[in-house]
Amino acid sequence: MTGGRPLLEIHPADTWADHVADAVAERLAANPDLVVALPTGSTPLPVYERLPAALAAAGASFGAATVVVLDEFIGLPVDHPVRCDAVLRRTLLDRLERPPARFVIFDVDEPDPDAACAAVDDAVAAAGGLDLVILGLGANGHVGMNEPGSAPDAPSRAVDLAPSTIEAARRYGADPAPSRGVTLGMAPILAAREIWLLISGTHKAGILQRTLSDPITSAVPAALLRGHPGLRLIADDRAASGWPARPRS
Ligand code: GLP
Repeated sequence: MTGGRPLLEIHPADTWADHVADAVAERLAANPDLVVALPTGSTPLPVYERLPAALAAAGASFGAATVVVLDEFIGLPVDHPVRCDAVLRRTLLDRLERPPARFVIFDVDEPDPDAACAAVDDAVAAAGGLDLVILGLGANGHVGMNEPGSAPDAPSRAVDLAPSTIEAARRYGADPAPSRGVTLGMAPILAAREIWLLISGTHKAGILQRTLSDPITSAVPAALLRGHPGLRLIADDRAASGWPARPRS
């Protein structure tokens, strides 16, 4: 913490994704059997695009790592291109020279979504717990599918999606858009050793402001991350307009 708020790392928009990709590659170089939860959405796309080259440059790979999908929609058929597991495969895993040793996904095709969540939690525990959770920031402050109202001790669970999340799914190409999902809960996210919250674009400036400045309540789930000792907020200068850059200490 610096000056009463978590350290905000600000990078120029044109190098932000390179910076994040290099940071992921460095983590994998240092800890090849990393257990990492990864988000979908548009924010990480340029990072995933750059990751294969960043891994090659760092002499690192996902070959011994465990990748956990952060969340998943309920109700999309198994081969639907908007499903989070499909998006992660398409945008990252299929492009890697060495795929991860384990890819942990929510089995939303089984009738009991809470059992699917328990299976993901069990797989994470069996892998030794989450070393790193990488998150995007929802327009309403959600992380994963932990929508406003999610308590810090919320477990992995099935959730009703907020209207803005349903609309986002429609924009991604799910029509009809799903209204429910499953997500790693706030509790397992907060139990990770490190949390990196990625924020890019001017359209995220307002919710980043609230994430950093609002009272720490469930109204903005991302604000619940403040105070986690391993939290990094990695923003581009468009999302962070209005915040003075502070050097990392
Ligand atoms: C989505 C996903 C999140 C994602 C967030 C931000 O609804 N559930 O995992 O990080 O919203 O999306 P985007 O990066 O497209 O702004």
